Amino acid sequence: MVRGKFIVGSNYKMNGSQSSLLALVGLLNHAQLDSNVEIFISPPLVYIDLVRKNLRRDVAVGAQNCYLKATGAYTGEVAPEMLRDIGAEYVILGHTERREIFKESDTDVGLKVEQALQAGLRVIACVGEKLEEHQAEKTLEVLYRQLDAIADHVLDWSNLVVAYEPVWAIGTGRVATPEQAQRVHRAIREWLRSKKGDHVADQTRIIYGGSVNLSNAAMLANEEDIDGLFVGGASLKPEFVDICNVLQGSR
Ligand code: PGA
Repeated sequence: MVRGKFIVGSNYKMNGSQSSLLALVGLLNHAQLDSNVEIFISPPLVYIDLVRKNLRRDVAVGAQNCYLKATGAYTGEVAPEMLRDIGAEYVILGHTERREIFKESDTDVGLKVEQALQAGLRVIACVGEKLEEHQAEKTLEVLYRQLDAIADHVLDWSNLVVAYEPVWAIGTGRVATPEQAQRVHRAIREWLRSKKGDHVADQTRIIYGGSVNLSNAAMLANEEDIDGLFVGGASLKPEFVDICNVLQGSR
């Protein structure tokens, strides 16, 4: 079974400036990066073009959001086709900050996924449970609801990556243990198997995000159903390079 390369992706969120992002780009450009790992970085929208023009070609660039329509009178929004046009290859959709702060519904996320895939972007579709849902043992119920809303809009699964991001682990320093994450990733894969069949279940990459840093990356990467890492805070630091090379130490 070939599942595609291990992925290490970043989400810079609303951080950075031209000069600080060019410094991060310079760091990546001069680093020795594992060619067996698919890497992308996601700067704020206004810097995508600058980053794409300065970054080495074997590292991809992603956006943190897009709109659910292809064109039209939607003041302030950005269509997935426009992201493609400036060289973005990935888009992060359904991130908890979009769901919670900007009130994106499961339905919105599903429609965005459909539009982005149609535009030829690779989609990082984020799912994750909040702390109270985690404590009430509702994790899988929440994830299956979020996944259902996404799966209805996916015809070709080859450009979709699922990111499991427990909300209680995002930006908190409280990472899921490798065993916890593995259990959930396995459950997501089995959900895919029951809904979409063996091929989709075995091929779809499921990556973990939430307080990933250099000290926990290798342990997480070692788990069978963890096909990549999604990095927020630590992606703004030089250690991101070492996280990209995490497989070199562990396999
Ligand atoms: P974090 O963010 O690594 O800072 O916890 C992860 C994310 O929001 O994707």
